[in-house]
Amino acid sequence: MKRVKSRMSGGKIMASLILLLGSLAYVMAFAVINGSLGFVCSMGVTVLGAAGVAKALGEQIALSYGWIAGLAIGLGVLRGALRFVEQYCNHYIAFRLLAVLRDKIFSALRRLCPAKLEGKKKGSIIAMLTSDIETLEVFYAHTVSPVCIALTVSTAVFVFVGLTSSWYLSLVALAGFVAVGIVAPLLSSSVMKDSGVRYRGCFAAFNAYFLDSIKGIKDIVLNNAGDARRKEVNERSDELLLYTRDLKNKIAGATATTEFTVSLMTLVATAVAIALTAAGEITIGKAVIGVVAIFGSFGPVIAISALPGNLTQTFASGDRVLALLKEKPVVERVENGVDFNFDDLRVEDLSFGYEDGNKVLEDICMTAKRGEIVGIVGESGCGKSTLLKLLMRFWSKDGGKILYSGKDIDEINSDSLLGNVTMVSQTTYLFDETIEENLKIAKEDATEEEIVKACRQASVHDFIVDTPDGYKTKAGALGDNLSAGEKQRIGLARAFLRGSGLILLDEPTSNVDSINEGIILKSLAEQKKDKAIILVSHRESTMAVADRVYRIEKGRITEVKR
Ligand SMILES: Nc1ncnc2c1ncn2[C@@H]1O[C@H](COP(=O)(O)OP(=O)(O)OP(=O)(O)O)[C@@H](O)[C@H]1O
Ligand SMILES: [Mg+2]
Repeated sequence: MKRVKSRMSGGKIMASLILLLGSLAYVMAFAVINGSLGFVCSMGVTVLGAAGVAKALGEQIALSYGWIAGLAIGLGVLRGALRFVEQYCNHYIAFRLLAVLRDKIFSALRRLCPAKLEGKKKGSIIAMLTSDIETLEVFYAHTVSPVCIALTVSTAVFVFVGLTSSWYLSLVALAGFVAVGIVAPLLSSSVMKDSGVRYRGCFAAFNAYFLDSIKGIKDIVLNNAGDARRKEVNERSDELLLYTRDLKNKIAGATATTEFTVSLMTLVATAVAIALTAAGEITIGKAVIGVVAIFGSFGPVIAISALPGNLTQTFASGDRVLALLKEKPVVERVENGVDFNFDDLRVEDLSFGYEDGNKVLEDICMTAKRGEIVGIVGESGCGKSTLLKLLMRFWSKDGGKILYSGKDIDEINSDSLLGNVTMVSQTTYLFDETIEENLKIAKEDATEEEIVKACRQASVHDFIVDTPDGYKTKAGALGDNLSAGEKQRIGLARAFLRGSGLILLDEPTSNVDSINEGIILKSLAEQKKDKAIILVSHRESTMAVADRVYRIEKGRITEVKR
């Protein structure tokens, strides 16, 4: 079996997770108080019973039988109410935290994107948003407060037994609490740590693989690769089962050990009580009260001893979530930089590589200004899309300059950059909303006329009008019926609607027939009056509309003489 190591120590992860609680810490404190009082009440019921027995045995008990019965009933009812409040608080925290954590992860992703989603598997991020957060919910709702409750209740029992019965018995109880609540969980967590981390890692990997397979099911079927996939899924499933069994076996072993220790400690307490009574140290009544109190007091520490199985998983989940929250984005947003109005773009000696020592682009020099269409050609994989992404600052350049209206791209406020430059990438994503709403993400307050104009320019208006509900048709309802070309043209319409000074088009007509291409190129030519358009394309016919053309070859750029 593979050894998977958690990167942060358990204590550090726990501390960081508790810090994430923020103001919910007060609610948690309230839950702990209610939980502790509730447990003390439930113990009170048994101890009052023991007091009744002690009184019958001749012990001096100030309470009458009536009072003992009444108090026991009262405490029982109170226990219910306190338990309700505790559970209410815990679940309030849990559900609030689900929202808070998802929000935090989402914000982190927004910071890290788009580079993050290009680089890492989306499946593992989806797994994080679902199962890892669920695991953390268990930590917050069902881990922190049991630990606090165990601490307060054990202390209360220690003092109570000491005062009412015997300090010797108190010490026995204390030894039991330490054995069950501290030694046992520490031992079992060291035994279970690797199993838990391994299980969680395998579970996340399995989820990611399975999701990936479902997303790619069409290609699996087309390539008749179903059997191989199924075999792999089965193998991974078997592996997961192996890890699950290993973990469950260890949890079962730990539970058995705990139960054994509790029984042993109650036996020791009984033996000590008998010995003390025989030696005349305490009366039989006091012995009964002390022993009964100890018998009923192990609940909270048993709850702690059951934690390590979950805790190791919590640590693994927490580790992943915290690492994502802390991850530094490839490019930081610029908030306190300069704003600009696009007039021209100048790229000087630009160089870039996704990995160190592996340059994709080198010494790139180019310009573009309002009123022209600049074409970029080059073989597949030569770095055309990369250049456009650098112009959008999706990635940070390694060297050279990108100047918009004379201002360095790294000093321009991100909002200003996105306001002046628009990119239509090679693939357009349509949300499961109406076509109109899909267009409006480019301009929230766009009027109907503006939307129709943009769609005419992108040569997609006629298609939209022909769909069942026109602009109100849900993109999801069309499902895969939307062709690549139609999606592409909706992407273009978005860019036209945005109306930025510089438009970057990555293969805008690659999936479009020549009639539609003609319409799109004509509207590009019309729009260039007050805009600059950078156009990446393989097609000669598309390049015909460009005023100037650059060619990228082996990472270097040259202007094509025409
Ligand atoms: N996120 C990434 N991480 C690492 N390498 C990448 C990444 N994106 C692209 N590359 C690599 O960088 C090189 C340039 O890719 P790019 O997408 O810019 O090519 P392109 O010229 O647009 O190709 P095409 O015409 O096929 O769209 C390729 O070798 C590609 O594999
Ligand atoms: Mg490309």
